[in-house]
Amino acid sequence: MCGIVGYIGKKNSLPIIIEGLRRLEYRGYDSAGVSIINDKAKVLNYKKVGRVGEMNDNIDKDIFQGSIGIGHTRWATHGVPNDVNAHPHFDMDDNVVIVHNGIIENYKQIKTKLLAEGFQFSSDTDTEVLANLINYYFRQTNDFEKSVRLALNEVEGTYGLACLCAKEPDKVIVARNGSPLLLGVGIEETIVSSDASAVINHTKNVVYLEDGDMAILTKNGFKMKTIHDVKIYREAHKIDFLLEDIEKSGYDHFMLKEICEQPDTIQNTYRGRINFDSGIAKLGGLDSVFDKMLNAKRFIITACGTAWHAGLVGEYMIEQFCRIPVEVEYASEFRYRRPIIDEDDVVILISQSGETADTLAALREAKKFGATTIGIVNVIGSTIAREVDAGTYVHAGPEIGVASTKAFTSQVMSLALITMMIAAEKNTISKESLIEIATELRNIPGKIKKMIDAKEDYKKVADAFKNANNVLYLGRGFNFPVALEGALKLKEISYIHAEGYPAAEMKHGPIALIDENMPVVFIAPQDRTYDKIISNIEEVKARKGRIIALASDDDDNINSYADYVLRVPKTLALFAPILNVIPLQFLSYYVAASRGCDVDQPRNLAKSVTVE
Ligand code: G6P
Repeated sequence: MCGIVGYIGKKNSLPIIIEGLRRLEYRGYDSAGVSIINDKAKVLNYKKVGRVGEMNDNIDKDIFQGSIGIGHTRWATHGVPNDVNAHPHFDMDDNVVIVHNGIIENYKQIKTKLLAEGFQFSSDTDTEVLANLINYYFRQTNDFEKSVRLALNEVEGTYGLACLCAKEPDKVIVARNGSPLLLGVGIEETIVSSDASAVINHTKNVVYLEDGDMAILTKNGFKMKTIHDVKIYREAHKIDFLLEDIEKSGYDHFMLKEICEQPDTIQNTYRGRINFDSGIAKLGGLDSVFDKMLNAKRFIITACGTAWHAGLVGEYMIEQFCRIPVEVEYASEFRYRRPIIDEDDVVILISQSGETADTLAALREAKKFGATTIGIVNVIGSTIAREVDAGTYVHAGPEIGVASTKAFTSQVMSLALITMMIAAEKNTISKESLIEIATELRNIPGKIKKMIDAKEDYKKVADAFKNANNVLYLGRGFNFPVALEGALKLKEISYIHAEGYPAAEMKHGPIALIDENMPVVFIAPQDRTYDKIISNIEEVKARKGRIIALASDDDDNINSYADYVLRVPKTLALFAPILNVIPLQFLSYYVAASRGCDVDQPRNLAKSVTVE
């Protein structure tokens, strides 16, 4: 997490850095800072607790002028959010200035060594240790590039970093190991950033750094090397989204915009990937591993957060329609528990950002054991997308709101396409069913649109329980993961405690919590679980719980059971999670907005968790 922006070129760097940091605030927003080298080669520093907007209001723009600079928006890992711990960090000689994303794991040992050498520290951060380590080598070599290289060969851990040197004020040095970093290559300027959203306003050409890469940026361009001093060349890529994709475009929040984009984003996920006459799906990115998928002994789906919930939906889909065993694992557990994996396993990594540290580590673990790895990723060119054997992009477009919405529905749609593709080839589904699914798939964007048009109805329900302290979400089958996702959405942005459960499991614990203050959200589609769900509703009613039911458009029966009904168009089981999650997204959005919460940047969270 944390966002980094750096600039070197002919323009005044501060506005470019601040604009970039604003776009990266989804990565962290507890403090912000910049260092600028002015035309007298003096380094000017500013850093404070608070958001980038506050820095923009408070910084003296007449003084902070210069065409070389670096900036940072922080999500605290080491050290509480305060002015001292904010980035940039400096060494004790005020020579090396650094912004850093990631964690230096052996910083304590390095600090002990430097303390013994007489170095002094003013913050609790690992980054300040790194600044001093670079300067430790600078004192010996008088060479900035060499000092960075020597220091990086000594550190263990992850970093995306950009640094300046007061004694070599004509360059910016950047490096990457485990935390994303790219260079925006403009005309007579280079911008370094944690992701493409901070550079798109200036250039569409980007070069991604790989782990172990360094780049030395000057006003004449940049050269790239590994941290072992081997020259390298990395190809430039074109950014594939537009500036308006990362702006609010009149919506109050990115989250609301992203919820409302789903009729389009879902189409972008399946466009060109399905033959509607035959129901045959084809994901070109998986061609090279398709045989492996067909012959897989089992699938292991691994992910974090919302993407993990999509994975659970995938398990229900693939097992039901393809008859292949599926396990779903939290990436953070998978990577550390010595899982049994071999060449006959297919491991599917799901990640919106393609940068989540645990998911990336799970991918590398799976590769080590020879499994075939597949990515379902949103961000094009991200690390997971680049490292998997094969993959499919979900094409949901940039997702800025910290609470994931459109990425989830596109991940589920991708899994549905994968399911159809395998089931057709393995003959585990009839031709008629395939065509029925494909026909319904075409209706999904329209059905989502219908719910978006009814958002005021969802808002009324949100008003009715915005003051709750706890909420329970219950669903069965394909909708159990939706219950988990509904609960996650609510707690992430409104700070109301919420739990998702398989509806029948309620009797094994959560029922003890139910009283007249407890709202319970039931996902109650008219499928084969309907009668069972109605029984569960009665059990809650008998204990005076407040019932909010998600029910099909034409289900009048539900009115006699539920206090509030959220209407959802009817669909096939395979697509039910995509439709059912939409009212739950709206519900949490409206609850959070009416409680005055910061919907797009909820406390303590970050969009892209690039630390363990
Ligand atoms: C964070 C975000 C979640 C996201 C999860 C996994 O916790 O706040 O919204 O679902 O990371 O992120 P990924 O980018 O791997 O999907």
